[in-house]
Amino acid sequence: LSAPFKELPPKYFYDERGSQLFERITELPEYYPTRAERAILDARAREIVDVAGTSMLIELGSGSAAKTRCLFDAMRDADALEAYVPVDISEEITRETATRLSGEYDGLRVHGVVCDYETHLERIPREPGGLIAFLGGTIGNFHPQVRRSFLARIASLMYPEDRFLLGTDLVKDRTRLEAAYNDSAGVTAEFNRNVLFVLNRELGADFDPAAFAHRAFWDEVNWWIDVRLRSLSDQTVTIPAIDMEVEFAEREEMRTEISAKFTREQLEEIYAEVGLELVEWWTDQDGLFALSLARSV
Ligand code: SAH
Ligand code: AVI
Repeated sequence: LSAPFKELPPKYFYDERGSQLFERITELPEYYPTRAERAILDARAREIVDVAGTSMLIELGSGSAAKTRCLFDAMRDADALEAYVPVDISEEITRETATRLSGEYDGLRVHGVVCDYETHLERIPREPGGLIAFLGGTIGNFHPQVRRSFLARIASLMYPEDRFLLGTDLVKDRTRLEAAYNDSAGVTAEFNRNVLFVLNRELGADFDPAAFAHRAFWDEVNWWIDVRLRSLSDQTVTIPAIDMEVEFAEREEMRTEISAKFTREQLEEIYAEVGLELVEWWTDQDGLFALSLARSV
C-alpha cells in the first residue's frame, strides 16, 4: 500500500464471505472456467487416475472441492481411494470440506491443512506416489516470478513417482475473458471489494468499500486479467494495526488480483524452466481450459 502503484495479494479475498462469494462466481453464466474444468474432469477422471496411479490426493487451494469429487469417484472405482489432504488458507471452508468428505467417502483418510501454501508448502503431509492437484486456474493468480519459484518448489518436493495435476485457463478472445470478470450480477465486484472488509476487520482499517469501484480488463501484453479497485474520490484511509495512513486520489487504481491465462506452448516452457515435464494435456471441447499432468525431472 505504500508503493506508488498500490497492490494487495489476492489471498486476502478468502475469509468465510470471500469463499462464499467465490462459490457464487463459479455458478455465474459468464464465468466459464469452473464449468470447463469440470467437463474435462467428468470426461477424463478415470484416465487421470490411471495415468497418475495414485491413492493419495493433495489439493492446493481446495476450497469446496466440488470438482475434486470426480477424482475421488474415479479413485474409488479403481479401488485406490485412501487419503485426501485439502490445503487452503480459508479455515471455514477447509473444515467444512474435510468434514463433509470424510463423511461421504467410507474409509477415506482426510487431513485438512489450513495454511498459506506460499510459505508453508514444505509442511504439507505427503507420501511417495501422491497426486498434487492445483485446480481452478489459481496458478494464474501468481505473478510470473512468484509462480516460477512456487512451481520450482513443488518440483523439488515431489518424489519421482508423484504427479502434479494443474488446471490452467487458456488465452482466448477479450470479450469472453472480460465478461467472466465483469458479471452482470455484480458478484465479482463484491468479491473484489471483500478484501476491504477483510482489512477493516483484521487490521481495524476504515476503508469504505462503497467508495471503490470494481474494474477488470484483459492485458494483452502480459496475458492476464488485471483486477483493480478504483477510488471514487480523494480519500484517506487509516490502518491502525500497522500504524499507516493511505491516501487515494480520485480515480486512482489499486490492483487486487491478476489472473493469467496460458497456452500449451507457454506452459511447456514454464514447466521446463522449473524442473517439471508435461506428461498429459487435456482440454474441454471448446478449448477454453486445460488440465495438465506433469512429473518432476
Ligand atoms: N480449487 C477450487 C477453489 C479455487 S479459489 C476451485 O477450483 O474452484 C482459490 C482457492 O485458493 C480458495 O479456496 C482460496 O482460499 C485458496 N487460496 C488462495 N490463496 C491461497 C494461499 N496463499 N494459500 C492457501 N490457499 C490459498
Ligand atoms: C481463484 N481464481 C482462479 C479465480 C480467477 O478466475 O482468477 C479468482 C477470481 N477472481 C475473480 N473472479 C474469480
